[in-house]
Amino acid sequence: MSISVSHITKLYGQQKALDDVSFEIGGSAVVGFLGPNGAGKSTMMKILTCYLPSTSGTASVCGFDTREQSMDVRRSVGYLPEHNPLYTDLYVKEYLEFVAGIYKLKNVSARVKEMVDTVGLGREQHKKIGQLSRGYRQRVGLAQAMIHDPKVLILDEPTSGLDPNQLEEVRGLIKRIGREKTVLLSTHIMQEVEAICDRVIIIDRGHIVADDTADTLRSATQQRETLEVEFDRATEAKLLLRIPGVEKAEAVSNNAWRLLCRADQDARPAVFQFAVDNGLKVLALQKSERGLEEVFKELTKG
Ligand SMILES: Nc1ncnc2c1ncn2[C@@H]1O[C@H](COP(=O)(O)OP(=O)(O)O)[C@@H](O)[C@H]1O
Ligand SMILES: [Mg+2]
Repeated sequence: MSISVSHITKLYGQQKALDDVSFEIGGSAVVGFLGPNGAGKSTMMKILTCYLPSTSGTASVCGFDTREQSMDVRRSVGYLPEHNPLYTDLYVKEYLEFVAGIYKLKNVSARVKEMVDTVGLGREQHKKIGQLSRGYRQRVGLAQAMIHDPKVLILDEPTSGLDPNQLEEVRGLIKRIGREKTVLLSTHIMQEVEAICDRVIIIDRGHIVADDTADTLRSATQQRETLEVEFDRATEAKLLLRIPGVEKAEAVSNNAWRLLCRADQDARPAVFQFAVDNGLKVLALQKSERGLEEVFKELTKG
């Protein structure tokens, strides 16, 4: 197993940040660690990278125990901490050489060049880190995490604060990295999981509430579907609720409604029949897919 977490609990004084968390990750994949703020994502990552000890339970990376074999764990894992701390006064290459030195790498300059190419820092490589835009700093963070060629990468909110173009580039980069390594990345953005993750572990208030492939999670909660319908004039919710299969009717604007329907039968013919029976015309009717966003809300609300 690349990452194995067994019954991890973490207390900060009275505050329980993680409560009996267990999961395993093996092989090359991008796994999303998803949860609202304060769910315990960063705490879990700090435990996996030996920055913090757990209160109880065990965690291992590439078979090395985080408490007993911390040096082996550090050699096996690359870590991009939340907020990506960097030395802003150092030049990009100077900083990467410094990190390579910490890992006692041989052929430092060749390795630094390789990393600069891998993360696409080419044109910015002669600048000071403080002069880089956020997207390029994030690339420096990824380069320092990968410089010792670890099997496992732990990235804490690697895309937070990026603009849409940078976002797409950095996500693409992470996806490529995930073909060869185990990547565990935290995020509170559902679309990010949809865009790059093979599997998603959802955590809420220190508990794992879901752990599955993105596809399975989506289909598990697809017993309901939403229909957006617009009529040519007003009608009432209590009438709409008489349509077979319709469980909820929510007014969107004057004559437009959002209908929550059972997904086992297509309610659209019944909606048309309803319009005919009530002398209404259907101006628009559309099925909207329930994405992971709804799944996330359902699992973490309350
Ligand atoms: N050093 C700390 N001391 C006390 N409480 C902490 C500390 N670090 C995190 N916490 C608390 O633990 C909980 C989980 O935090 P964190 O792991 O940072 O969550 P996330 O990364 O999912 O936003 C939060 O309630 C947070 O306030
Ligand atoms: Mg965090």
